[in-house]
Amino acid sequence: MKKMSIGEQAAGASSATGDGLMRTAVWAVTPERTKSNMDPSDIVTQFTAQVDHFVTSPHVNQPEAVHRFVEAVAPHGDECALDVACGPGLLAQAFAPHVCEYIGVDLTPAMVEKAAATAREAGLSNARFEVADAFRLPFEADAFDLVLTRLALHHMPDPSAAVREMTRVLRPGGTLGAFDMTTSEFTEEAEYHTEVERLRDPSHTRALPLSELVRTIRVAGLELDKVEAIDYNQDVEDWMARAAQSADAATRARKLIAEAIGTRKFGGKKVWRDEDGKLWFSVRWAILVATKPA
Ligand SMILES: C[S@@+](CC[C@H](N)C(=O)[O-])C[C@H]1O[C@@H](n2cnc3c(N)ncnc32)[C@H](O)[C@@H]1O
Repeated sequence: MKKMSIGEQAAGASSATGDGLMRTAVWAVTPERTKSNMDPSDIVTQFTAQVDHFVTSPHVNQPEAVHRFVEAVAPHGDECALDVACGPGLLAQAFAPHVCEYIGVDLTPAMVEKAAATAREAGLSNARFEVADAFRLPFEADAFDLVLTRLALHHMPDPSAAVREMTRVLRPGGTLGAFDMTTSEFTEEAEYHTEVERLRDPSHTRALPLSELVRTIRVAGLELDKVEAIDYNQDVEDWMARAAQSADAATRARKLIAEAIGTRKFGGKKVWRDEDGKLWFSVRWAILVATKPA
């Protein structure tokens, strides 16, 4: 395992330490960022609002999906691992006991604080968390044995650039584990899906179809080892409540989802009402595990 002096490398980042203290964060505007319409403050505003719902949501906390991710990545125990866009540290709870050192980074300071607090409560002494941008990771090249990212690429204006940056900090022979939602391979269905997702959470950029996730891994120079799909049923109201949106946007999103019942137009997803009239849709998550050629 390659040892690092992370603090020295963390120019422009801030960190939450074991005592929960935050150091000041200054974000650089990356070339990728300036090419897109996504303002980092939109992400920070949205995910600051989401912190508490996020840690209690049955959807994102689903143990089976996280367990499948750990099994697919299969850490050996001696890895120095980086979790990019770590959120409130849900993945850290599952992975940190199986690696030597665990570092989580996220753009949203409130998420980083929550991750440090939950790790402290869980007694994870090998985990620490910092504020940092996925497009400009404050680490040297080849620094990590394992890089993980979950449910974050669909919030990024340029997921390819983010995966390239994750690849840069991965050592040759190291493993990337990516977990994200997918959308339809068909443009019209994918666009309808994106429209609803953005009404619900304006920080959503675009979910990728599985074929594009695979291509993103390949063009970053990684060799794909495993692809798994997890299908899951999502309660629309739990999903809406976890994000911050206007009442008008919520009404329009519900309407578009309901109109997709019996069709494929909501990103190819199955949409239905249960016997109580509650609206549901099916989610397909993908797990991709890849190696950086040695
Ligand atoms: C849906 S949450 C997922 C959190 C966590 N990975 C999990 O699975 O529980 C997405 C996270 O991505 C973070 N994020 C979005 N864009 C980012 C970026 N460019 N750099 C770092 N974090 C980012 C957000 O702040 C948020 O915490």
